[in-house]
Amino acid sequence: MSRVVEDRRIDEAGVSRKEGARALRGQVIRVRKARMADVAAMHSMINHYAEKQLMLPKAHLQLYETLRDYSVAVEAGDDSRVLGCGSLHLYWEDLAEIRAVAVLPGIAHKGIGSRVVEALIEEGRSYGLEQIFVFTYVPAFFSRFGFVQVEHRSMPLKVFNECFHCPKFNTCDELAMVLHL
Ligand SMILES: CC(C)(COP(=O)(O)OP(=O)(O)OC[C@H]1O[C@@H](n2cnc3c(N)ncnc32)[C@H](O)[C@@H]1OP(=O)(O)O)[C@@H](O)C(=O)NCCC(=O)NCCS
Repeated sequence: MSRVVEDRRIDEAGVSRKEGARALRGQVIRVRKARMADVAAMHSMINHYAEKQLMLPKAHLQLYETLRDYSVAVEAGDDSRVLGCGSLHLYWEDLAEIRAVAVLPGIAHKGIGSRVVEALIEEGRSYGLEQIFVFTYVPAFFSRFGFVQVEHRSMPLKVFNECFHCPKFNTCDELAMVLHL
């Protein structure tokens, strides 16, 4: 069964938009590069969704090793409170992947995921990339930035590097999407 997420009203923690709005009221959000001190929050956020099989789990070691790929959304007034995260992993001179985009359970649909993805796309542009791809269960979210669905087999073989470690390697039901910069 496809896990592509259809419900846009209630987030994964079952918290309504109204409650989420209260949690964020009056806060200015900014996106910055991740720091070591953010890893605990990123680990907890990503693995919360991984337990629900909405994304791949990440070990602390993986997060430390790839920390330079990550950006986080934080409150401007409390730069230590991580509200969302995501990473841009470089693959080739013209190609990168957006991975591990997650927003703190309880504050979905407040624009935080979009802020993270926009920052990652901008980072990709700054490197002079031509394409960014993503494997995802939420195509409606990524299509807002211009990502279009493509066949898995149309992707260059090298992008499956990470997939070799995935328990769902032979039964992948994520959608492949590409953004041409
Ligand atoms: C997917 C996710 C990152 C989106 O973050 P967010 O902060 O809630 O997203 P935004 O508020 O920026 O969303 C903007 C728009 O994107 C679309 N969108 C967001 N989440 C969506 C979802 N789950 N399904 C379909 N469309 C979605 C909607 O059009 C939304 O606008 P709306 O709130 O007016 O309906 C977040 O819900 C999340 O952490 N999900 C679990 C982990 C996950 O699936 N990550 C993706 C890994 S590739």
